[in-house]
Amino acid sequence: MVLVPFVLAWDILLNIGNAVLPKRKKGKVVRPGHAGVGGKWPEFIAPTEGDSRCSCPALNAMSNHGILPRDGKNITFKQLNALIQETYNFSPSFCFMVPHIGASMLKKSYWKDSFNLADLDLHNGIEHDASLTRLDTHLNRNQAPPHLPFVKELLESATGRDEDGNPLLTEADVSRMLVKRRKEAEVANPHYTTSKFHEVFGASNASTLLTIFGGRVADLEAILIDEKLPEGWESRILEHFGLTVIAFNKVVSRVGKGTEGEKKE
Ligand code: HEM
Repeated sequence: MVLVPFVLAWDILLNIGNAVLPKRKKGKVVRPGHAGVGGKWPEFIAPTEGDSRCSCPALNAMSNHGILPRDGKNITFKQLNALIQETYNFSPSFCFMVPHIGASMLKKSYWKDSFNLADLDLHNGIEHDASLTRLDTHLNRNQAPPHLPFVKELLESATGRDEDGNPLLTEADVSRMLVKRRKEAEVANPHYTTSKFHEVFGASNASTLLTIFGGRVADLEAILIDEKLPEGWESRILEHFGLTVIAFNKVVSRVGKGTEGEKKE
């Protein structure tokens, strides 16, 4: 696959760019002309009957604010790339790579095809058992809505504090909760499956809570429960070219290593 060396080479250049260029200013992470400038997000409207949603709180929130189509349908992979970049300040390399993975999971063309959000819940595609915020597909039949007891427990597990004493999720908290969910899902779900690939995906999704959302429990409550971007919210990533694959993978790898430690206990 030519994609991997291409994305890596591009990502290395973006990392160098991030190291030498000034960071974006707080309050100005979203660039002019895009939804969310100055923390003013388009109106939040909860989904209604017939709208398509998935197990990804970040993508559902984008549809709930009308950044992605409100009905969650007929989204092109190219459109997804551009919009996640501007909304969450992931790097262009990351935003090119993840929709490619999504398209390939769904056996669709990144360049020509579109999808509905619910398509992303193809079980054991990107969606997997033992999520932090959702019941397993087998236990829920439709994994999409957040399982509030899981979200509450995740947020209550936060042991970090910011300078004002507000709770923050830490890498260790997330690793611990990933292992807890896996152990519980193994007991509760007779059809439980896992794989190294899905464990890495689980750690990747969880690492967005620490990076893009800065682990801030107050913000995560809105994002994980109502799938809403709080008024005034912006990505915690200030780097000029956004959160690169390489920088993100460092966090994912520490979260993954943390789960190894938890398993031994
Ligand atoms: C191309 C873009 C994306 C695709 C295709 C995608 C897809 C998914 C899918 C299928 C899941 C369900 C995984 C599971 O079973 O737990 C998921 C979960 C999640 N995603 Fe996304 N996602 C994308 C972008 C993002 C972005 C940009 C963020 C953060 C800003 C994000 C944050 C999350 C979080 C926090 C979860 C919940 C994990 C859990 O419950 O364990 N995703 N995503």
